[in-house]
Amino acid sequence: MRNLWRRLLSLLCIGMTLMVGCVQVMDDQPKLDPQEQSSFFADGIASRPLPDHIIAADPATWQVRSASKHDATTSDEVYLTGRVDGEPVDTLPALLLSRFTYPELLHRGHERFDVSCVPCHDATGSGNGMAARRGFPYPPTYHSDRLRSQPLGYFFVVATEGHNKMPPYRDLISTEDRWAIAAYVRALQFSQYADVTQLKEADLNALQESP
Ligand code: HEC
Repeated sequence: MRNLWRRLLSLLCIGMTLMVGCVQVMDDQPKLDPQEQSSFFADGIASRPLPDHIIAADPATWQVRSASKHDATTSDEVYLTGRVDGEPVDTLPALLLSRFTYPELLHRGHERFDVSCVPCHDATGSGNGMAARRGFPYPPTYHSDRLRSQPLGYFFVVATEGHNKMPPYRDLISTEDRWAIAAYVRALQFSQYADVTQLKEADLNALQESP
């Protein structure tokens, strides 16, 4: 009997020790509650107004922001999938070219590539992005013979569907932006393997005069 009491007593002690450990210190830190008055701010109100241009970050809003306004209205198979008969296409879809000029596309592609792909692939596409240097698997360089000989649509397809360890970007980057990025990746590839003899004379002169 005495043993039982002892056991109960020690269980009680352990329980109380655990409860003391559960005190939520963050609850007691100095802070302002909603609607509370505050002498810290000039208007005396603790709850602060949202800064200008704030956009709610719930998934629904994100979808609306990322989906292109054209995506919902088109059923163009090539434009949406980047494939014909299952194979990646070698040209930009006509639908895209009817909406944008090449300079517009490349400018947009450059900007979006810098945001969405550079963290892993780096700015030249050689695969040494910061995320890779910090532990994400290294992507391959875009400047290998294998990737240089891929059709343009392949880069759209990889951006859309992902590739092995690379996640898909279908839901985060609009269709037209994925095409713009694909066009820019091709331009990046040319930038590393340009044939100088193919340049027009004016461009060649400009190149020779540049520092
Ligand atoms: C979070 C890091 C990350 C981001 C961001 C990223 N990639 Fe990748 N990418 C990878 C990795 C890792 C691989 C290699 C995947 C594998 O083979 O396992 C890869 C591979 C590729 C390949 C080569 C596929 C092949 O055949 O080997 C292409 C093309 C590519 N990415 C394009 C893009 C484009 C375009 C973007 C931007 C829309 C992008 N990636 C964004 C990590 C990333």
